[in-house]
Amino acid sequence: MRLDKMLSDCGVASRSEIAEACRAGTVTVNGAVVKRADTRVNEETDEVVYRGQTVRYRRFVYLLLNKPEGYVSATEDGHDPVVTDLLPAEYRRMGIFPCGRLDKYTTGLMLLTNDGELSHRLLAPKSHVTKRYRFGLEAPLTAEAVCAIEAGVNIGGYVTKPCKIELEAPDRGVIAITEGKYHQIKRMMEAVGNRVVSLERVSFGSLASDVSLARGEWRELTPEELFRLRSEANLK
Ligand code: URA
Repeated sequence: MRLDKMLSDCGVASRSEIAEACRAGTVTVNGAVVKRADTRVNEETDEVVYRGQTVRYRRFVYLLLNKPEGYVSATEDGHDPVVTDLLPAEYRRMGIFPCGRLDKYTTGLMLLTNDGELSHRLLAPKSHVTKRYRFGLEAPLTAEAVCAIEAGVNIGGYVTKPCKIELEAPDRGVIAITEGKYHQIKRMMEAVGNRVVSLERVSFGSLASDVSLARGEWRELTPEELFRLRSEANLK
């Protein structure tokens, strides 16, 4: 692989900055200064140092973010802040994007990655990945409303798939759904004459929210978390 590709895949800098750093003699491969950005390197075994920092090659990154309110699930937006604004530039240069959408005012667990295949598989309707959300409502949810929602309600001509609700109080609880239609939970509650006043995602497949992360904080997935997610997506 070319040195500049290896370094830009890792998000250390743009291609032009990498070329400039090479010309300036601030990039070494196995201890020797390398002035040409198109030099071939073995990304697995060569020791590449960029401006004093050893660079470990990795094509894909996987982050768990505790999404705060007010951020749009996108990489850019005309006027609102986006979830990728919460991450260091290194990840943005690696092409990281949110795996699925949460509404602007929904908080909680969000997976971000630059692994298009994994993201696509996790979001594919046939994968039936379970997503759990803690909701707060304007009014108590009656037993009839719980039954109706669990069986499937009509949201604009689409009947939702069976789901599960655990009430923690008359007007709040956790709902587990296996699909992801636009504003799904808000519209399910509206279908029974109620209104969502707060919504937080607490799990996405095997991935559970990390209580040590404050809103707006993130961390990389552990190897175990990634292994489980890949298995759910039928990837080895
Ligand atoms: N359902 C909603 O209504 N909003 C979300 O953000 C996620 C699920």
